[in-house]
This record gives sequence, structure tokens and C-alpha cells, in this order.
Amino acid sequence: MQIKAIGCEPLQLARVHLENSTSLEVYRRHGGYEALKKVLTSMSPDDVINEVKKSALRGRGGAGFPTGMKWSFVPKDSPKPKYVVCNADESEPGTFKDRYLMERDPHMLIEGMLIAAYALGAKTNYIYTRGEYKYLIDIMDRALEEARAAALLGQNILDSQFSSEIYTHTGAGAYICGEETALLSSLEGMRGHPRMKPPFPAVSGLYAAPTVVNNVETLTAVPDIIKMGGEAYQKLGTEKSGGTKLWSVSGHVNRPGVYELPMGYDDMEKFIMEDCGGMRDGKKLKAVIPGGSSVYIMRAEDIIGRDVRMDYEGLVAGGSMVGSGGFIVMDETVDVFESTKNLTEFYKHESCGWCTPCREGTDWLVKVFKRIEKGGGSPEDAQLMLDLCDNIEGKSFCPLGDAAAWPIQSAIKRFPEDFMKHLVQEN
Ligand SMILES: Cc1cc2nc3c(=O)[nH]c(=O)nc-3n(C[C@H](O)[C@H](O)[C@H](O)COP(=O)(O)O)c2cc1C
Ligand code: SF4
Repeated sequence: MQIKAIGCEPLQLARVHLENSTSLEVYRRHGGYEALKKVLTSMSPDDVINEVKKSALRGRGGAGFPTGMKWSFVPKDSPKPKYVVCNADESEPGTFKDRYLMERDPHMLIEGMLIAAYALGAKTNYIYTRGEYKYLIDIMDRALEEARAAALLGQNILDSQFSSEIYTHTGAGAYICGEETALLSSLEGMRGHPRMKPPFPAVSGLYAAPTVVNNVETLTAVPDIIKMGGEAYQKLGTEKSGGTKLWSVSGHVNRPGVYELPMGYDDMEKFIMEDCGGMRDGKKLKAVIPGGSSVYIMRAEDIIGRDVRMDYEGLVAGGSMVGSGGFIVMDETVDVFESTKNLTEFYKHESCGWCTPCREGTDWLVKVFKRIEKGGGSPEDAQLMLDLCDNIEGKSFCPLGDAAAWPIQSAIKRFPEDFMKHLVQEN
């Protein structure tokens, strides 16, 4: 697997290649916990929030919400305790960068969380991850123990007045528990059903108290923002998409892996054909899902010669989204009908069953896919699937419903030939 920064100095990947990269000693030797020290000795909580606002850091979990703005929504005058919760569930198909960060540089996450906790006044914080990532919890727990022993965690951190603890927690392995409100329900020991929004977690989250939920990659960007200053971090990317971004590249390229690129990297074709080593076995590029399974699939024709810019605005203009940065490359051998069926089975399996459009709709979609696959399809089935998607999109209780509909809608629209091949019976 290729682990590399391209077009920028590595920030989040800066230490991952070092021997003993998980140890406190190596982390500190390479500038670790300097940002926390700076924050505790010379910055107020508001200063920290302002720096994060200036950085134009946007949440790396999928939605791309501005992080500094999210932090500023936490009510300062609330008498309730405040929490920082790290979303380390990383369930989006095609996404494997959070796992890598925790596996190779756990102290970077601890430092990022402590800076967030200081900015928000949180004394208790959690890292929530899915059951399959238990081995990461062991790595995180060891790093937390080391940090505690070095007075970097717990009471009076680095001899300051600031005290804060971090605990790890595993779920049982459900995609929906990556959705922030379902995650909070699960963390409270309840079934992982999403909650109504508003109120948003920043106002009423864990135990109905103000809570910031942030992705691993989002929180691990914070130490560098503090060290270099928000403005300098923003300038690594674009005006609205600051900094660098990790892309988990999988599929039919010669060099799959985790790549760190400046936001606004120009362009996607070069990224696939040069940086990722081009297509495997000399095959042609057919399709890319650039941001994890929940975003629109793109055709090669919309990438080759189109200068698609890799940031939030550039990818929307190119017909998709950054999402979680799970970059899935498909060559000409892929049948998009089959790959979309596979994803739909995933969403059906992971639908939590709480609301009817998603529970019933994903089940119906899988039934239609299976009937077509067995040779029982007709040309009208494309419209039937679009109608089913229409009854899920925007009508479900949480965004998982939209996430199930979008891949199908975009696949039928952009690869009609792959669907028609299955729908038109040849005599
Ligand atoms: C079905 C579903 C699954 C999600 N899974 C994840 C996940 O595994 N990791 C993650 O960070 N965010 C996930 N999210 C997004 C979170 O709800 C939330 O927006 C994110 O954790 C906020 O952090 P950020 O602002 O740092 O991106 C998911 C959202 C949905 C709707
Ligand atoms: S949209 Fe799906 S996952 Fe979300 S609440 Fe409804 S049934 Fe559950």
C-alpha cells in the first residue's frame, strides 16, 4: 500500500513511516504536544476556536461542515458538562484513512482531541470506534496510558489548570453508528438509532449535554493548525477548503493507498494516471466513486481532460462530492449494474429499520436487482428503481436513506448501457 503526500509537505502523514511511530517518545521528538503546550500557555479557548475558523478546516467525516463554526455553536453558558467525541467508526465503504492515522500516529489524535477539549471546556471525551477496529483501541489505550503517565492527560495537564480525560469505546459494528446521533445513542448504551436534528449535538448531544462530534482526520488536523496558524493552514488549500486532505485509494490502480493532497489539487486525471501509478494491467478507466460509496459515481469521460479539482467545490462542479475521500477506481471490466447492486445490498443490510422509506425501500431495491439478475428484468425497471429511490431520498429520517439512493440514481443516469444490458432480454 502506498502512503504518500503529493503536492505538499506531509502533515498528517508526517510521522507514519517512522520506527515506533506510535510511541510518545517519537511523537514528542518530532514536535508532538508542542501545539497543546502553546494552547495551554498562551491561548484562550476563543483564540483556539478563531484559529480553527481561520484555517477553513471542514469536517472530514463526510459532510464537510466548517469545524471552527461547529465548535462555536457550543453554548458557553451551559451549566451542563461538555464533551468531545471522536468519530472513529470509519464505516463508509472505500474509506480507510482514519484507521491508518490511529494505527500509526495515535498521539496526534490525542493531542487534537485535547486541544478541542480545551477550546470547548470539555473534561470528558470519548473515542468511539466500531467493533471490527478493536485492535486500534488497544493501540489508542496504550497511547492514552503513556500520555497519562507523562501528565499530558488527566488532572492539571502540563501543570496547567486544565484537566481532561479521554476514554475509548467500541460499538458492535454497524454502519449507522457512524452517523453522529446514532453514535451518541450507542455510546449511551442504547440501540444505535439516529436522533431528530435539531437540536444538534453541539447543543444537546451526549446525555443531552453540549457535544462536538468530529472525525479522526478532522481532529488530527488541529495540532498543525495551532502550530502553523490558521491562515497558513488555509493557504495550503483553497479559500473555502483549507489545508490538506487524505484520500483512501482502492480499486484498479497500480498504487492504491492513503494519499495526502493539498485541497484543490489539480487534477483528478493526473492523480489517477500518474500519482496512483495509472490503471492496472493497462486497462481503461471506466468510473470513479471519489468520496466513499455514498456519493455520485463519475464516468471516465467526466474526468479525462476535464481538470477536475479535488476539493469540496471542485468535486461538486465535477458532478460528485468529496464525502469521506474513499476514492474507488474502476476499470473497463466493471459492470456498474453489478457494482451498484453490491452497494445496495450493503445499504439494505445496514438500514437500521427505524423509518419506513429506507427500511422498505432498500429491501425493495435489492429485490428488483435480484430479479433482474436472474433474467426477469424489463426496460421499465430502470424507471421503477428511480421511483423507489425517489421515495427514499429526502423522505427518510437520516441521511443513510439519501446515501442509499444516490449511487443508484447516478449509476442509472451515467451508465444506462450497463443497466440496459440486463434489462433488455435478447431472444
Ligand atoms: C450513515 C452515516 C454514516 C456515517 N459514518 C461516519 C463515519 O464512519 N465516520 C465519520 O467520521 N463520520 C461519519 N458520518 C458523518 C457523521 O454523522 C458526522 O457528520 C461527522 O462525524 C462529523 O464530523 P466532522 O465534522 O469532523 O466531519 C456518517 C454519516 C452518516 C449519515
Ligand atoms: S434512513 Fe435508514 S438508517 Fe436512517 S433512520 Fe431511517 S431506517 Fe434508519
